[in-house]
Amino acid sequence: MIHARIAGTGSALPGAPVSNDDLVARGVDTSDEWIVGRTGIRTRHLAPADVSACDLAQQAAERALASAGVQAQDIDLVIVATSTPDYIFPSTAALLQARLGIHNGAAAFDVQAVCSGFVYGLTIAEKFIRSGSNRRALVVGAEVFSRILDWNDRGTCVLFGDGAGAVVLEAADAPGVLATALHADGAHHGILCVPGSVSGGQVTGDPFLRMDGQAVFKFAVRVLGEVAQEVIAGAGLSIDDIDWLIPHQANVRILQATAKRLGMPAERVITTVDQHGNTSAASIPLALDLAVRDGRVQRGQKLILEGVGGGFTWGAVLLQF
Ligand code: ACO
Repeated sequence: MIHARIAGTGSALPGAPVSNDDLVARGVDTSDEWIVGRTGIRTRHLAPADVSACDLAQQAAERALASAGVQAQDIDLVIVATSTPDYIFPSTAALLQARLGIHNGAAAFDVQAVCSGFVYGLTIAEKFIRSGSNRRALVVGAEVFSRILDWNDRGTCVLFGDGAGAVVLEAADAPGVLATALHADGAHHGILCVPGSVSGGQVTGDPFLRMDGQAVFKFAVRVLGEVAQEVIAGAGLSIDDIDWLIPHQANVRILQATAKRLGMPAERVITTVDQHGNTSAASIPLALDLAVRDGRVQRGQKLILEGVGGGFTWGAVLLQF
């Protein structure tokens, strides 16, 4: 039986951290006290105008390849999860493939599942590897969410940041990924969306992120709890077997409520939202890479990576690192 295991991780953040007070200085009608109290966010990184999702994806991917000890040419599948691609087309994955010099005919495509995108991408890559059709995948979450924020909407603009995270997933004799679950319910598309498009050279509709914060909060806590339990049951394990929960980083209160629902001690939840804000599809691989590099996540440990985002979409991957 072919398994799929993470061989290496990497991440990238643009520029210096931007504090809540920096946002106030830039004219956002808010305060450090409000943002920290409601969300736990203290800083985020915002990409300069000339830095794209593909630029961040490239940095994260190169670090993941180096940590896995593999060459770009050894990759036969490139998946980028993003809602802020460089172009309408081609995909950011195809652009990344060119940047990395992968000329071996590897498949390359983007996944659009907003903040669940990385978990969707990782799950797809795992299925390709377990089927035997591919040997080594690069799975990246990369976002420049600052480009789709309305800086006059203080209810949303303070929440998000830019960044990228990447993993190399490869075929192995031992696990690896132990269980996966993906879900969506498009009936809830209206509570978190960017309801605009490009047509005839014009933006039609609204090109900024719009959100019903309280509806998103309740939905996120419920499905993050449910989908974590689903993969734990799928792997035949219990919550006590899980070393680290690495949820999508939207809001520290969502992370705390999810951990409480699962009976998971807060100290076994990797939290980066305080430093990065919500980086959408990048948040889970960014948090994973940080925890690998600071030594908290160790080989052999069991992790749950789980996401929830616009669509609505949600999903989880339980793996042995
Ligand atoms: N600074 C100061 N005051 C603010 C700010 C701000 N940045 N934003 C809103 N307020 C004010 C509002 O105007 C309102 O004032 P009023 O009472 O005078 O009318 C007051 O604060 C309360 O506003 P609410 O929107 O009701 O605040 P709430 O307690 O719901 O918190 C928040 C808002 C933080 C967005 C919360 O709903 C939340 O965290 N929701 C989850 C959303 C989320 O994390 N989304 C991320 C994307 S989704 C995902 O990744 C899955």
